[in-house]
Amino acid sequence: MKRLAVLASGEGTNLEAIFEAIEREEVAAEVGLVISDRPTAPALGRARRREVKARFLDPRPFATREEYDCALLEILQQESVDLVVLAGFMRLLSPVLVKEFYLRIMNIHPSLLPAFPGLNAVEQALDHGVKVTGCTVHFVDEGLDTGPIILQQAVPILEIDTIETLHQRIHAVEHRLYPRAIDLFSRDKLTVKGRRCYLGER
Ligand code: GRF
Repeated sequence: MKRLAVLASGEGTNLEAIFEAIEREEVAAEVGLVISDRPTAPALGRARRREVKARFLDPRPFATREEYDCALLEILQQESVDLVVLAGFMRLLSPVLVKEFYLRIMNIHPSLLPAFPGLNAVEQALDHGVKVTGCTVHFVDEGLDTGPIILQQAVPILEIDTIETLHQRIHAVEHRLYPRAIDLFSRDKLTVKGRRCYLGER
């Protein structure tokens, strides 16, 4: 059984969806711990309610991003984590962590990458006037939302959409897509060659 660390800065609705999928036995993994860079992140409460280890790692004592990530790395190694799941973690990971965990860190992003990377992806899509957006689960590399893509799903943009309504529909799709990607990883079904990620045994 693969052991996950979920990193989240905010609400943690994706974390909740992962917990629920594990409970329904749709994901062959366990959440070993949840880490947040914000002490009040609701994600921490969601973990504690399930008696899963929840840890606030305060960025303030660390002078640089690398130092913070070294501390993070130490925790992940101590906890024998197989996969790091970024679920609304609002920090860019430094090479220190990415190198050590390459192809073992996933992220979910609310657009069809490579379109609209970075912050405010839903707003970017609306402002651009695209008719279709969606969400992407990808492995994390050293760039900003640039790593090999695991799964994507499209979400049409309606004329009446606001940032909130569109984000809500994207979120609903995320909640199904992320557990699927984690389950594929957990069952050793993901193979990456170059930029392409193949699903299934090869
Ligand atoms: C999601 O929209 C995800 O795509 C982005 O951050 C948001 C996290 O939402 N990376 P939640 O905290 O899981 O509700």
